Amino acid sequence: MASEIVEKAKELFIGETVYVDEVAGSDEAGNGTQSAPFKSALKALEAKGESVKILVKKDEEGFKEISGAALKKAKKTLAEQQRKKQKQEEQKLKQDEELKKKAEEEAKALEYAKSVVLTEDTSLPKAEKIKIKQGVASRGKRVKVSGWVHRLRVQGKDMMFVIIRDGTGFLQCVLTGKLCHTFDAVTLTVESTITVYGVINALPEGKTAPDHHELVVDYWQLVGKAPGGDDAFNNKVTPDAEPSYLLDNRHLVLRGETASAVLKARAEVIKAFRAHYESRGYTEVTPPCMVQTQVEGGSTLFEFNYYGQTAYLTQSSQLYLETCLPSLGDVFCLAESYRAEKSHTRRHLSEYSHLEAEMAFISFDEMLEKLEDLICDVIERVLADEPTRKLIEQLNPDFKPPSRPFMRMKYADAIEYLKANDIKKDDGTFYEFGEDIPEAPERAMTDKINRPIFLTHFPHEIKAFYMQKSPEDRRVTESVDVLMPGVGEIVGGSMRMDNREELLEAYKREGIDPAPYYWYTDQRKYGTSPHGGYGLGVERFLAWLLNRYTVRDCQLYPRFTGRCTP
Ligand code: 4AD
Repeated sequence: MASEIVEKAKELFIGETVYVDEVAGSDEAGNGTQSAPFKSALKALEAKGESVKILVKKDEEGFKEISGAALKKAKKTLAEQQRKKQKQEEQKLKQDEELKKKAEEEAKALEYAKSVVLTEDTSLPKAEKIKIKQGVASRGKRVKVSGWVHRLRVQGKDMMFVIIRDGTGFLQCVLTGKLCHTFDAVTLTVESTITVYGVINALPEGKTAPDHHELVVDYWQLVGKAPGGDDAFNNKVTPDAEPSYLLDNRHLVLRGETASAVLKARAEVIKAFRAHYESRGYTEVTPPCMVQTQVEGGSTLFEFNYYGQTAYLTQSSQLYLETCLPSLGDVFCLAESYRAEKSHTRRHLSEYSHLEAEMAFISFDEMLEKLEDLICDVIERVLADEPTRKLIEQLNPDFKPPSRPFMRMKYADAIEYLKANDIKKDDGTFYEFGEDIPEAPERAMTDKINRPIFLTHFPHEIKAFYMQKSPEDRRVTESVDVLMPGVGEIVGGSMRMDNREELLEAYKREGIDPAPYYWYTDQRKYGTSPHGGYGLGVERFLAWLLNRYTVRDCQLYPRFTGRCTP
């Protein structure tokens, strides 16, 4: 009893006894009792105050009172820690005060900005509404231009450089003085829409801006404000974002300089294709996309319910083009084709733009020449147009137009090439005559040869039912794939069977019911002719020309396995 009282008195005088086990204790989980000791004396002081009695266990020997030196060291460290903490707290307080002051100042400035109102100076000449591409021709006159804020640079309180974009180009606008003081000016964000008024002046040598000029703004209006903060455009669309995130946000990605350059180049390339066909006397037709026949095998058909009947999205307009020859002569079309592709590769889409042409009374060699003419002429046309040449240079600075003639290589020789170059199947064996050459070896060969190749004369077993057999070797067809470095196949074409009996045989061989194809078969009944044609995948052509990694970058809103949005 007496000893308990002495202990209690000691505790009151010296403070509580705290246990520290340097081996098995824990500063996080312990509470300083003998059964749950702390790990460090520092923690003991921190938790229980400086007047505690500390018993320390270092080894098997059990708890002993802390040494004077160790206690001094722990107290010193604690004091340092407390000093640091206090300093941090003081700093934080100061920072918070500064932030508060800044926020108050900003709020005041915004309040003031709300009172700044711009009015158009009616003594100035009336501004003429122009698109940015008319800028050079409109220099010196007062103009009015509307667009999206592409980039924004604030220089002090009295100067802002705003680059606007309207789809026809980019224009640097300079805002000074009061023009920078309105609420809309101080809160302006990238992707907001504005209308600016003023005069476009050429820039002196040494200064850079799009078209080497800038619009000196005398009046402007906000049309629609885009969000700032986390939702700001530049926080939403970042180049290092996941591809699927970027595809979900394709509507915003399209505003970027690369994506919009691809789409502009695409429009120009399509224009050039049409101009080529126009100059060579072809007629453009518009075949249906909803069909009840297949062209390129049943396995890639997209099926749908057409008023209770089975119908498909077209794989190719070829069969319809063939029916146009007797009335329109050589024809072409640019239509969407659909493939329920199982292959998830960078060159396969589920919907793609298919440029197809069909020509009557030609030989296979003539068809190859026409194909070569198409590709080379279109490249010449796009390069001859200065803005398009610049777009190609921006996207694919190393592009060199292909030289004629393209290399011609028979399928049988490709099989030998693969063997000679040790290009094998996954199982380590070589490809043999009669086997399909898949994408990987085809690409390996094309990249190695590094020039356009007309790969011809494929065995009929691996090609579509309608292909004409070669008169010299009945095992193979008069068929061609155009292979381009970096992409592989961009065109598939052939001469078509022009003999009715042979075609009926081919339907049978492929297990195709000839009944729904009566209109196609009839071409061989009502005045047959040697004829042939091809289909070019526009996105693959663009991936080659613009050096894009995937065809998905060459479509407005790509459709491929698993993606049908936005
Ligand atoms: O080789 P394909 O399947 O040929 C035809 O459809 C023929 N009926 C064309 C014709 O002779 N009129 O396809 C032709 C081209 C391919 O070379 C390729 O460029 C493109 O169409 N293509 C695709 N492009 C993107 N994604 C896909 N899933 C494609 N499938 C074919």
